[in-house]
Amino acid sequence: MSPEPTTPPAGRPLRPGTLAVTAGRPAHEPDSPLNTPITMASTYVAGGDTEYGRYGNPTWTAFEEALGTLEGGRCLAFSSGLAAVATLLDLVGQGSKVVAPRHAYNGSVLQMADLEARGRITAELVDITDTDAVVKACADAALVWVESPTNPALEVADIPAIVAAAHEAGAYVVVDNTFATPLLQQPLTQDADIVLHSATKFIAGHSDVLLGAVVTRDDELFGVLKHRRDMIGATPGTLEAWLALRGLRTLHVRLERAQANAQELVRRMTGHPAVGEVRYPGFGAIVSIVLAEGAIAADLLTRKTTLWVHATSLGGVESTFERRRRWKSEPATIPDGLVRMSVGIEDVDDLWDDLADALDDLTLPS
Ligand SMILES: Cc1ncc(COP(=O)(O)O)c(C=O)c1O
Repeated sequence: MSPEPTTPPAGRPLRPGTLAVTAGRPAHEPDSPLNTPITMASTYVAGGDTEYGRYGNPTWTAFEEALGTLEGGRCLAFSSGLAAVATLLDLVGQGSKVVAPRHAYNGSVLQMADLEARGRITAELVDITDTDAVVKACADAALVWVESPTNPALEVADIPAIVAAAHEAGAYVVVDNTFATPLLQQPLTQDADIVLHSATKFIAGHSDVLLGAVVTRDDELFGVLKHRRDMIGATPGTLEAWLALRGLRTLHVRLERAQANAQELVRRMTGHPAVGEVRYPGFGAIVSIVLAEGAIAADLLTRKTTLWVHATSLGGVESTFERRRRWKSEPATIPDGLVRMSVGIEDVDDLWDDLADALDDLTLPS
């Protein structure tokens, strides 16, 4: 976990683990609640700054302050990660070129394909680890989309090199920081223009909320994005924002434990005869394994465990996994037998016992 302190507006610099707990709280005044209340309001008394429920809500604001502080910019919450993706893709003009990782989250790639099919943009999908190729592709781009690590291939991008090339071409850079979280990577400090989160995942952290967020240091961009959110109405639910804020308070503790579990499981799975390949970028709580015997073995694995839950999504306190190619939209360059594992915060020995039993079973002669 990054020990680098961030400087709040006033006072001593606070570290990310402290900011996760303290940012976005009500002021410390007698009898004010410690936690931000859930404000259920579709309208407000006229004459103020907010006026209507689509334009703002104090519970969203508290969440936005907390996540914005951790990422080092100004945050806007959206109804889901994909609502935020759609709003960002709408930033570019008609016929503009968008560069994106071929293995970015497939919902984001599908949105780009849909826009391309309707003549709205052109999309160039790249191998995000091939920095020279990405830099070349940036030359005539209006928007460069980075996801690092990618979902589910777990490839890591050279963000500073890509940002430099994109800015040279006058393009915006968006970094989907869902997998790393602001605790492991802060793209705005690497000059990216916008950070995107599926806050559904690690930020909220308990598999009970759908929420998206964007963060930027550029006030003009912030204004444009806020205006779009106001107009489209891709606004978060108040309860969702509150639950995500509550989840964010323990992000550093959850992530530290989940990452330690992931690293230990990577060590134990490596070399197991049922596992052909272990993919792990060295940080975070997502691991992908490729089963030696391919898709059938991968499907069997997801049915044999009792603790590991077969489910899509990721970033919750509970360990889940799935064979990604079970989704028709996942590209053929993702191995058929790849299982994406979202490592939770359970006892690692229990996680391993459950997994090892299932993996051992796969290697028994039938
Ligand atoms: C990396 C990444 N970005 C964006 C999204 C979309 O977010 P949501 O499901 O909150 O719409 C996801 C969802 O899985 C994701 O994994």
